[in-house]
Amino acid sequence: MSVKFAVLGHGVVGSGVVELFYKNKESIEKRAGTEMELKYILDLREFPDTPYADKFTKDFNDILNDDEVTSVCECMGGLEPAFTFVKSCLERGKSVSTSNKELVAEKGDILLAIAKKMNCNFFFEASVGGAIPIIRPLHKCLAANEISAVSGILNGTTNFILTKMYNDKMSFEDALSLAQKLGYAEKDPTADIEGFDACRKICIISSLVYGKHVYPSSVYTKGISQIDLNDVQTADSMGYSIKLIANVRKLDDGRILPVVMPMLVPHSNIISSVSDVFNAVLVDGDAVDKVMFYGRGAGKFPTASAVVGDLIDSVKHKITVFSQSWDSAENNDFVAGIDSFKAKWYVRDNEKSYITDEEMTMSEAEMLGTAAIPVLEQ
Ligand code: HSE
Repeated sequence: MSVKFAVLGHGVVGSGVVELFYKNKESIEKRAGTEMELKYILDLREFPDTPYADKFTKDFNDILNDDEVTSVCECMGGLEPAFTFVKSCLERGKSVSTSNKELVAEKGDILLAIAKKMNCNFFFEASVGGAIPIIRPLHKCLAANEISAVSGILNGTTNFILTKMYNDKMSFEDALSLAQKLGYAEKDPTADIEGFDACRKICIISSLVYGKHVYPSSVYTKGISQIDLNDVQTADSMGYSIKLIANVRKLDDGRILPVVMPMLVPHSNIISSVSDVFNAVLVDGDAVDKVMFYGRGAGKFPTASAVVGDLIDSVKHKITVFSQSWDSAENNDFVAGIDSFKAKWYVRDNEKSYITDEEMTMSEAEMLGTAAIPVLEQ
């Protein structure tokens, strides 16, 4: 008998999941150890011309009330109705694999607890880094380490825009519309540009690594909208690239300090050469030293690859809880604010640009000049 699953949402990622499943069905089933059948696709829009037109439903209850459906891929994005749908599926014991960063960053603790109680899985490999396997490695392969820091480029759209602006002299607007056309950007690209998407991803990583839910509202976040191309060029001549960096560090007092902001990355640091839609995550662990993960951070098939990988795992391990988990946090007192962030800074003071010799806080750096951008610690 085949295992039945459903896909919620037929946008860029959801349609990628369906296409990838049919393209590689034979090997996917072999890896899952069973035949699999896509029974429903949920979307309010009409898709009469797809080869899967008979699978579409507009009614979520068709999926929820069908006991044959044991696994669900959530690719709708946004908090609602995704949260209600995913929660209801887990409460019925249906495993869920999601690409939805906002959902995991805001409600991951609640959904993981339900999955655990109901003996099913809530997987979210696709929520961070697109195609890059990072959730499982952090949770499993690196589980023996004390992780002191994780830094990376976690938003494909902004990295694509910065690369196009610098390498191809494309305007910000043209680079953004190309990113949207290629299916990289969020529905509302403000989430990419202003760093909220990268913030959600560093919250997921921080929660996973440090074991307690880290809420996006507790993370200092600054995007790339104020980056001046002159600063990008000046930084380059000084031996640095400007990248939107998401970073979390463990402080000496036991708190953690997650931040998202444009940073100067020395050309000697491998992250500096990560361009276009690619993401990279550098993990510092006491046993492994540094480990780097690199790959396409957005796009239809790279993201679908991670969702379908999770789907296969959920089909394979129907009644074993393999989901990662972390505790709920009543408050985020264990998360330090931007006042605790110290770095050397790139400062522009009228026509003069320089890097400070001393580490200092953001407010101290901002007193020195107009553009104050921190240098990423090596
Ligand atoms: N908008 C996101 C990005 C999509 O550009 O990285 C993948 O999470």
